[in-house]
Amino acid sequence: MKKVCIVGASGKLGQYMVQHALDRGYEVVGVCRERSIGKLDAFKGRITVIPGATNDREVIKKAVAGCDGVLTVLVPWGVQQYSTGTAQAVIDHAPPDARLIFSCGWHITRDGQDVYSRSFKATVKTFGWLARLVRVADLDDQVEACRRVFASDTRWTVVRGSDLEEGESQGLPVWSRHVGDPILKSNITRRVDFALFMVEALENDELIHEAPAIVGCQTPSALAIKTVR
Ligand SMILES: NC(=O)c1ccc[n+]([C@@H]2O[C@H](COP(=O)([O-])OP(=O)(O)OC[C@H]3O[C@@H](n4cnc5c(N)ncnc54)[C@H](OP(=O)(O)O)[C@@H]3O)[C@@H](O)[C@H]2O)c1
Repeated sequence: MKKVCIVGASGKLGQYMVQHALDRGYEVVGVCRERSIGKLDAFKGRITVIPGATNDREVIKKAVAGCDGVLTVLVPWGVQQYSTGTAQAVIDHAPPDARLIFSCGWHITRDGQDVYSRSFKATVKTFGWLARLVRVADLDDQVEACRRVFASDTRWTVVRGSDLEEGESQGLPVWSRHVGDPILKSNITRRVDFALFMVEALENDELIHEAPAIVGCQTPSALAIKTVR
């Protein structure tokens, strides 16, 4: 892995991914909205920034050219199929052998085998309804984006994040194929470690065509299972 593109580089997750990628010595190209370029000032001179909407196909085509890996932050913001447009542009324009890593939340299911708590389902339903009502976000757009990734013949991994918190790194999160697995019960991950998992996935071929649901490695549920194993 030599050159990686980070789509959505200016967000919180994106900035952590930029740092992890630079730490590994990768050449980094970041895509972010024009108004957010300033958020990447800390990396000035160390990364190439391509301004533009992440669902702009021409912007993505230029940004992913020659990249060995593409890390994409999929967000459900807006009601203009932003997430779907972003995922499709990456799928269509990334070099065919590139590793593609996408972020989303536990609410995305790949095979319908995830088991969600009543409170989780209620939260997703309420947020989804309210967000659509005031037209700030559309969770179904993120669902469709992931459906297209799962159906693509690219070398994808979809990393499904638990609830997130800030704080120092605790190490690489643990993961399971299905929400509902006891190891995930604590439902919390440091955002910096979510980013670490995304960047590490670039070089982990065992994660190709997997949709790992992650949780912090120091959380009670992760530690309990590790002790038993
Ligand atoms: N937040 C959570 O609790 C949580 C839980 C589980 C999984 N996740 C997943 O983690 C990833 C990162 O989420 P995050 O909450 O931590 O956010 P984040 O890293 O701060 O990223 C937000 C991204 O959305 C962009 N954005 C914000 N408003 C936008 C708009 N109106 N139109 C287009 N783009 C917009 C931001 O770009 P600008 O910099 O240009 O504003 C930034 O790239 C997502 O894939 C999310 O599904 C989050």
